[in-house]
Amino acid sequence: MPKSNSCKKVYITTPIYYVNDVPHIGHAYTTIIADTLARYSRLKGYDTFFLTGTDEHGQKIEEAARQRGKTPNEYADEISAKFKSLWDEFEISYDKFIRTTDEEHIKGVQKAFEVMYEKGDIYKDMYEGFYCVSCETFWTKTQLLDSHLCPDCGKETRVVKEESYFFKLSKYQDRLLEWYKSSETNILPKAKKNEIINFVKDGLSDLSITRVSFDWGIKLPKSINDPKHVMYVWLDALLNYITALGYGSDEKRMGYWHNVTHLVGKDILRFHAIYWPAFLMSLELDMPKHIAAHGWWTRNGEKMSKSKGNVVNPKEVADAYGLENFRYFMLREVPFGQDGDFSQKALIERINSNLGNDLGNLLNRIIGMSGKYNNYQISSNDVKKYYKKELDEAEEILDGIENYIYDMQLHRYLEQLWRVLTLANQSITIHEPWTKMKEGKEDEALALVALVANLLAKVTILLSPVMPKTSDKIAKALGFEINTNAYEQIFKNGKLLDDFVIEKIPALFPRIEKELLSSDTPKEKIKEMSAAKKESKPLDEKSDDGLITIDQFFQTKLKVGTIIEAEELPKSDRLLLLKVDIGENAPRQVVAGIKEFYAPSDLIDTQICLVSNLKPAKIMGYRSEGMLLAAKDKDGLTLIRPESRKRSGTAIG
Ligand code: MSP
Repeated sequence: MPKSNSCKKVYITTPIYYVNDVPHIGHAYTTIIADTLARYSRLKGYDTFFLTGTDEHGQKIEEAARQRGKTPNEYADEISAKFKSLWDEFEISYDKFIRTTDEEHIKGVQKAFEVMYEKGDIYKDMYEGFYCVSCETFWTKTQLLDSHLCPDCGKETRVVKEESYFFKLSKYQDRLLEWYKSSETNILPKAKKNEIINFVKDGLSDLSITRVSFDWGIKLPKSINDPKHVMYVWLDALLNYITALGYGSDEKRMGYWHNVTHLVGKDILRFHAIYWPAFLMSLELDMPKHIAAHGWWTRNGEKMSKSKGNVVNPKEVADAYGLENFRYFMLREVPFGQDGDFSQKALIERINSNLGNDLGNLLNRIIGMSGKYNNYQISSNDVKKYYKKELDEAEEILDGIENYIYDMQLHRYLEQLWRVLTLANQSITIHEPWTKMKEGKEDEALALVALVANLLAKVTILLSPVMPKTSDKIAKALGFEINTNAYEQIFKNGKLLDDFVIEKIPALFPRIEKELLSSDTPKEKIKEMSAAKKESKPLDEKSDDGLITIDQFFQTKLKVGTIIEAEELPKSDRLLLLKVDIGENAPRQVVAGIKEFYAPSDLIDTQICLVSNLKPAKIMGYRSEGMLLAAKDKDGLTLIRPESRKRSGTAIG
């Protein structure tokens, strides 16, 4: 992505995904990062083209289809559709979904082969070596593990001896090394770039780019007239980045081939940072500007694999926890380039803490204070007069934040936004607008509310590429719309919000108490849970003088209970052991400190109010699973009971 407005055409790509298996969290990660970059670029007003798609040829797909009794075509259609529909459900803002079985792509690949061949960069010979079908990669004997295993995935390789066309990769070795040195070349992370440079310095062999032992691939151009060869799947696949722009057919979008960002996983960086630039040099096309390689997701520290049954299904996570929460988590949790571990615990922690407490609650506080102090009206008129220091501090934090985008440090980018949220939350604590109201300094209190609304507005604009819908909702509540103009005015030029009446909107991040996914959680249950989550109650005004929100109140689950057993606890003057029916399968055991005031026999079959979601505790060796409500004063203790009899388990509230 360009740093300045001088070049406004931007091209962002994901890898194209193999159709040998359904999408998993790794695919979602690459796609979500690319989508965030594309949205960011559009927010800046750049003319952006975002490409994703599926990689459908090659031996791996042919064999996967055969194992399932399908033709490669049928199988590719089926799995490619799954990727496309997942991205549609995830609202991935791609401009084109390419399939390597598309006619336009096939034509473009054949054209590129012809150009390289005519240039003298392709020749025919015999290939003798090893091949890993899983990685679709050629290896020499010395590169193998234990002389027979693939050094990348550890799987068994196959001996290959067949006629093949070769690409003169060795010819481009020096030019590649020159290119890596250029300041224009941004291969990330930097440590990986050095690995690539060392690999190239060690010497490049020419690359086999056709196969004859199977059929499922693109044929060579007619002009070469050698029908038994199909193209090597990596040549076919890499070329998707230009055929999607019309290379070899109508060329209509080739204008985007200028400011190119390829997003890839670390396992396929070598193909993108060595083979691909060499092919482009041969085709005399511009080099990509950024090639950024992210790390891998593991599950509880282990590599994900179908055989271990620990593959995370991105749709289930998004359904259970919310798509945008999941996006935020993935980008915030792991520094770009490093491996990350997926755990629900970490995801819940991020949602409750970063999103619920820091972001959601801030909006809550603004709504509450503005409602209480000024009938929900907010005006920025006095913000600079009273709180210039805070505005300047926010500006300082946000200054240069865009560099984190260019360096793909999305976790840092989000951290900076959260620093501004902390500044906003702390400003409320420090300046105590409720005290100012009491002291008659109404202007200052209202200006503080407006300051915080303005800080939140800036954060919201910059958060929108990561959490588009949530940001739109917050912006709407704050009386503006997120678009390039808002980005320019509010973020770049520091314009303050126009006067507005804040909208009371439902809580954005209802608290999540327990893990919503388990290997045996049925899908229906997940849907039910996520539906319940979405139906969260609207916000009520939250005051900032020690009062709680209605949401917070409802975190306590009160129920009507019927006491069905009561006995004294031996050795205790204070405690009774009760069994209370609250409409569940089994009664709750409750240890209650009411012995001085009630005889056990008087309690049987009477009703009480029970706090039903307290963490169970052990009292004098007995488990206690709830607490009775009671009122106590100098005259003694009395239990709080429903005025008339209610069904056991009836909710109170
Ligand atoms: N078809 C090739 C890419 C061709 S691009 C011209 C391919 N496909 S893939 O489906 O196997 O992988 C696509 C991407 O998913 C890669 O970038 C890979 O790094 C990423 N991931 C696959 N598993 C992953 C994790 N467990 N974690 C993160 N990303 C991983 O390679």
